[in-house]
Amino acid sequence: MKRIVGLMIVSGILIGGVVAQEKGGKVKKQESVRQEEVRELMKSGFSNDPRFAWKLNQDEAQKICSQYPSRESMPASAIQKVIELSTSGINYPQWGIYWGDWKEGKKLVESPRGGRFASYGFSDNPADKGGNCYACHLIEKGMPGGTMGPNLYQYGKRWNITKENMNSPETIEKLRIVYNIIYNSWSAFPCSSMPRFGYHGSLSPNDVANIVAFLLHPESPVNK
Ligand code: HEC
Repeated sequence: MKRIVGLMIVSGILIGGVVAQEKGGKVKKQESVRQEEVRELMKSGFSNDPRFAWKLNQDEAQKICSQYPSRESMPASAIQKVIELSTSGINYPQWGIYWGDWKEGKKLVESPRGGRFASYGFSDNPADKGGNCYACHLIEKGMPGGTMGPNLYQYGKRWNITKENMNSPETIEKLRIVYNIIYNSWSAFPCSSMPRFGYHGSLSPNDVANIVAFLLHPESPVNK
């Protein structure tokens, strides 16, 4: 009996996933998955599960990236095409580029939650937001971090952003450049291993603005 109930719960989750997919087109909201289920999925392959099969369909930019072993071996025309595709889909906050709230940005940068895979379950629930930036970057002084991406400590200082110039048109343009990197890293670094947070909807335009503020604001601990 226990087993039957278990199966019913699992199939309920499966159906829930399919419904979410049909409604949204691109899946944004999914039920989380139990640890036992993750093991089953690993064995059966993701292509057999409607909740995850769509993730195996490459978009146009991914198809281009997959043709080459590295960015260095890509012809300029392919690099240009990936940049064009990645830049054209960038959405900005409703009122355009602005200084977000660096304290909110700090929370998102530190949170490992969001569209990710881990042994304790999947989650593509938009309420589970986080950039998991420390997995790949060193950021605040003294905080442990990864080295796959460049060190971002004093990133705002490196862009020469100070209290005095922080609202100048030049600085706002710098915010836009960094916004684009975080919204869709491929707009600046084609085929990068850095996730395309805004493109995938794991972070909203306002989330990205808050993260940009965390990296660049003169008051942020990143620049102390
Ligand atoms: C899976 C690893 C990974 C994650 C997670 C990641 N990044 Fe990156 N990031 C990279 C890599 C690699 C680069 C270098 C770009 C390249 O050459 O492909 C990069 C580049 C950058 C740059 C540009 C640095 C420069 O040289 O100007 C910024 C800014 C940045 N990341 C911010 C972030 C933020 C903020 C987050 C979290 C929201 C994040 N990254 C999450 C891997 C990652």
